[in-house]
Amino acid sequence: MKREIFVIEGGNSLFGRTEIHGAKNAVLPMLAASILSPAPVTVRDCPHISDVDDMLSVLDAVGVRTERSGRDITVSGAPSVTEIPSGLACAMRSSVYMLGALLSACGEVRLYAPGGCRIGARPLDIHFDGLARLGAKVEFGEDHVLCAARRLVGTDIVLRYPSVGATENLIMAAVKARGTTRLIGAAREPEVVSLVRLLVRMGADISGEGTPVVTIRGVESLDGAKVQPVKDRIVAGTVMAAVAVCGGRVELYGADSSVMGAIISPFLGAHTFLVEHGGAMVFESDGMLAPTDVGTGPYPLFPTDMQAPFMACQCYASGMSTMRETVFEDRFAHVPELISMGAGIALVGNTAFVDGSAGMHGAEVAARDLRGGAGLVVAALGAKGRSTVSGVRYIDRGYEDLSVLFGSLGASVVRTEEPEHGVRTE
Ligand code: UD1
Repeated sequence: MKREIFVIEGGNSLFGRTEIHGAKNAVLPMLAASILSPAPVTVRDCPHISDVDDMLSVLDAVGVRTERSGRDITVSGAPSVTEIPSGLACAMRSSVYMLGALLSACGEVRLYAPGGCRIGARPLDIHFDGLARLGAKVEFGEDHVLCAARRLVGTDIVLRYPSVGATENLIMAAVKARGTTRLIGAAREPEVVSLVRLLVRMGADISGEGTPVVTIRGVESLDGAKVQPVKDRIVAGTVMAAVAVCGGRVELYGADSSVMGAIISPFLGAHTFLVEHGGAMVFESDGMLAPTDVGTGPYPLFPTDMQAPFMACQCYASGMSTMRETVFEDRFAHVPELISMGAGIALVGNTAFVDGSAGMHGAEVAARDLRGGAGLVVAALGAKGRSTVSGVRYIDRGYEDLSVLFGSLGASVVRTEEPEHGVRTE
C-alpha cells in the first residue's frame, strides 16, 4: 500500500476562506440509515474522505445501489445480504451502524469485529444490551456477533453512558419496531439530530432528539428523502486551531456556530476575534494564545475529537494548560509526538499538563489515529522549521486532503510518498 506523508514548513500565517462540508460523524450513520427504505435516499454534502468510501463499500456489499454526484450520495434498493464482510468491518468502526440498520431492514445481521481508531477499549455493550432489550437475539461467535429478531418490540432503554453510536444504532433499530421505544440517557450530539432529521423526513415518528430522552414510535415502512447533514464542527474547529497557532484570519463558510459553543469558547481571548459575517464564521488570531483548562465530555461539552487539535494549540500558549480526556481512555497517542517537537507535556492519569513556554520545532512525527494526526498537522503548521507527518492514511479517514485545505490558506504543506528510509515508521 502507498504510504504518504505531509512535509510541512511551519510558520506561515493563514489567510483566506474555506467551505465546511457535512460532518463525517453525521454522514456515516445517515448512509447506514438509508438502507431502511428501498426508495432513493440522498445524503447531501458528504465529504470526500476514506471513511465515506469505506461506508460505500459496506453498502455495496449488502446489495444496495450507491451513486455519487459531487458531494451528494444516493442509496437505493433493499439490502440482500445481512453479513458485513470481515475485511470491511475490521477496517471501519462505523460499520457498527449496520447493526441497527440491517437488523431493522432484514431482521438479521452478522458483524465481524469492527475496527477504526485504536483509542481505548471501545466496547459495544451498550449497543448489544439495547438491541437485546428490543427483543433481538444476540449471539457472540469467536470473531463476530449475530443479531436476529423477527420483529423488534419497543420498550424503555436506559443507556448507562450517552454513547453516540449506541444512540444512533438503537434509533435505527427502533424505527420500525412494534410500539414505542424510549432511549433514556441518550447522546445529544448534533450528528444524532441530523440522523433523526433524515429518518423523520423518511417518515419515521421520532421526538426528543438533542435531549437525553428520545422517543421513537415504530412505523410500518419508510420512504425516500433528501437531506443536508449538520456541518462538520470538528473540521471547522481544526481550522480554527491552525489559525490560532499560526496567526491569521480565515472565513469558515457554512460553519454552524450554534453547535460549536464548547469548541469556540477556549479559543476566545484577548488575542483572537470571532464574528459571523455573510454566512461565514470569521476567525482571527495574532497567534498569541492564553493558557486554558479544558476537559472533554459528551455534547454539549468539549468534544473528544477536538482534544488533540486543541492540545496542539496549548503547546503554543503562554504558560501551563491542562487537557482532561474523560470520553475515551488512552486517547493520547499524539503526546509523545508533540513532545518530540519540543512540547513540555506531562501525562497524569487522564490529564495532560501542557507547558506552552517550551517552543515548538519541526520533527519527524507519526499519526497513529485520525484526530491525533490532525493535532500533529496543527502543531507542525506553527512550528519552527520542517516537519514530516507520516500516517496520512489515518488523517484521510476524516479530513479531505489537509495539504490542499491548509495550502489554500497559505501554509506550506506538501503531500508526498514516504521515502524508503528517513521517516520513522509507525
Ligand atoms: C462517536 C464518533 C467519534 C467520537 C465519539 C464521541 C462517529 C463515527 N464517531 O464514536 O468520532 O469521538 O462518538 O463523541 O460518530 N462505550 C461503551 N460501550 C458502548 C459504547 C461506548 O463503554 O457500547 C464507551 C466508549 O468506550 C467511550 C464512550 O462510551 O469511552 C463514548 O463512545 P461513543 O459515544 O459510543 O463513541 P462512538 O459512537 O464510537
